[in-house]
Amino acid sequence: MASAERLDGDVLAARLRQDLKARVAGLRARGVVPAMATVLVGDNPASLSYVGRKHADCAEIGIAARDIRLPATTDRQELLAGIARLNADPAIQGFLVQLPLPAGLDEAEALEAVDPGKDMDGLHPVNLGRLLAGRPGLLPCTPAGVLALLNHHDVPLAGRHVVVIGRGALVGRPLAMLLSMPGVDATVTLAHSRTPDLAGLTRQADVIVSAAGRTDLVTAAMVRPGAAVVGVGITYLDGQMVSDIADDVAGVARWVTPRHGSVGSLTRAMLLKNLLDIAEGVAG
Ligand code: GUN
Repeated sequence: MASAERLDGDVLAARLRQDLKARVAGLRARGVVPAMATVLVGDNPASLSYVGRKHADCAEIGIAARDIRLPATTDRQELLAGIARLNADPAIQGFLVQLPLPAGLDEAEALEAVDPGKDMDGLHPVNLGRLLAGRPGLLPCTPAGVLALLNHHDVPLAGRHVVVIGRGALVGRPLAMLLSMPGVDATVTLAHSRTPDLAGLTRQADVIVSAAGRTDLVTAAMVRPGAAVVGVGITYLDGQMVSDIADDVAGVARWVTPRHGSVGSLTRAMLLKNLLDIAEGVAG
């Protein structure tokens, strides 16, 4: 069975962190200490792990990081007040509110309460709007990571057909926008749970990106030989992380992400890239 080239997000992320380290050194030489904060409400185990990794990356790169933990009982006013304090804090250049929030808190409202100039996530409507308008801004991190991964492996995108599976506001919708921008120039189809004949569609794709979070959603029978296949969605099975991409895809695709890998490390690298863009006054 032919074997596809691995699109390994961890390898690229390690390289990006080296670039970020050099930028931090430049900022510190100018007397600027880059500093971020995370806001975690409740104790969702996956979120605890993700936040822990974000802080570990900051420690590695030399970014100061504040870890704000709020109880699961936090109400709307308390959360918005916490966000307002970070918006007003001159020592913090960027921050994020970890999602998902506990039931009863409005995620869209929390994202919109973040100062768009401090929005490391690139998920504030102003920053999503700038992406839509084709103006420079802070890009959403997972879509930016997927594009970086495809570019790093020289996967052709200009004029190619990309099928994005999943229309979520964090990944699918902004990724479809990013890949169709001038300069990237892909032709993008955004598929979702109501799309009929998904396999018929993906078999026409040069690139498939699955951000659905369903194990084995994309199988070899759905992939045209020579395509690139990126798994963004993840599921936890018996404590192990599993992507949307079935094992047999590696026998058909030319490029594929690892079954037990994710693009999470790239998302985090892009998060810290956004922070340094803010700190350097490039964006925001
Ligand atoms: N939860 C899962 N992914 C993300 C992300 O990219 N940003 C935030 N804030 N929360 C998340």
